[in-house]
Amino acid sequence: MKKLRILIMHGPNLNLLGTREPGHYGTATLADINQQLIELGDQLGVEIIPFQSNHEGELVDRIQQATGSSSDSGQIDGIVINPAAYTHTSIAIRDALLASHIPFVEVHLSNIHRREEFRHRSMLVDAASGVIAGFGASSYMLALRGLNELLRNPS
Ligand code: DQA
Repeated sequence: MKKLRILIMHGPNLNLLGTREPGHYGTATLADINQQLIELGDQLGVEIIPFQSNHEGELVDRIQQATGSSSDSGQIDGIVINPAAYTHTSIAIRDALLASHIPFVEVHLSNIHRREEFRHRSMLVDAASGVIAGFGASSYMLALRGLNELLRNPS
């Protein structure tokens, strides 16, 4: 089985998971979630590459590197991204993902459609291969499973 490389991107404030608004985001830390993804990746034959930043430009830079055109990083097959608050605002992250041509799944811990109206809009959603929201830390695992299947069985 071919080993896939999947980049897991976490946007601003997700470094605070575990203590940040547990009613919305649960009690798992970011390290817990990354560890669970690595373990699931081992089962699926996927190398997991986690990345978190509170800065929009750093997220854009990391997406650009994922194409493998830059010398400091290898080609990435797919991206699981929780853009956090940038979901609702960032044309720059949308443009970087579109330019990369790398398939991606948008993930949210909370069900953004059940929350404030400003969270209902996503700048990425129509360009995503899929979206998963509302399952807490499991949202990431479901996204990884979905993206893995999609990459292995393109229609
Ligand atoms: C979030 C939802 C966003 O609206 C919020 O800004 C976040 C986290 C989620 O995972 O539920 O930071 O993306």
